[in-house]
Amino acid sequence: MQKNTGLIFAADLENGRRAINITNEISDLIDAVKVNYPIILSNGLQIVEELSRTKTVIADLKIADVPHINRKICRNVFEAGASAVICHGFTGKNSIEACIETANQMYGDVYVVAEMSHPDAERFIHHASKEIINIASQLGADGLIAPANDPKRLQKVRKQSKNMRILSPGVGVQGGGAKTAIQAGADQIIVGRSIYDHREPRQAAEKIVQDIGYTNP
Ligand code: C5P
Repeated sequence: MQKNTGLIFAADLENGRRAINITNEISDLIDAVKVNYPIILSNGLQIVEELSRTKTVIADLKIADVPHINRKICRNVFEAGASAVICHGFTGKNSIEACIETANQMYGDVYVVAEMSHPDAERFIHHASKEIINIASQLGADGLIAPANDPKRLQKVRKQSKNMRILSPGVGVQGGGAKTAIQAGADQIIVGRSIYDHREPRQAAEKIVQDIGYTNP
């Protein structure tokens, strides 16, 4: 996925038509559109194909199964038109590797969840994040997911991951700021509700892109 404005739109809408309309409306302001379970479960995989006509699609299914199932999940979303998938890292080497091998065969990218930001994240994933980053790096993942609403942890992920690409959700409703996240080491920012729940989604996206520091060439 190419970086241009630095903004990725999280189209977590069950209304597929609305997701397509907003994506079209802000397509010049975003690098990609991210789809998650809500939109796929409500609209079917067809929505991936439809969105991919406008924009690069990242399928955020936080894939976390045994390797042969991960392969099938990846194959299905890549065949539907996705250019990238997001998988969990806590499942370990073989499960991540299955996603990366399938992505390589289908010219797709894989981003690995390295950190989460909700209050109980400390209990499990925080202990494992360093190892997850190492495995993702060794396997040749295209990047990591680390939350924008915890800049200290984001900085730590940046340090540990060296020059891997970092995509950061958690801006806006979850409390993070786009500028702070970029300063902490994020490469691209993922935003959902602050765009699609805004009265003027384009205006909201423009403001975020400004915060990121993108200037129209
Ligand atoms: O609406 P909001 O901007 O909070 O949406 C954030 C998006 O990023 C959602 O699609 C969510 O699943 C995803 N995400 C997240 N935190 C993570 C990983 C992904 O919020 N650690």
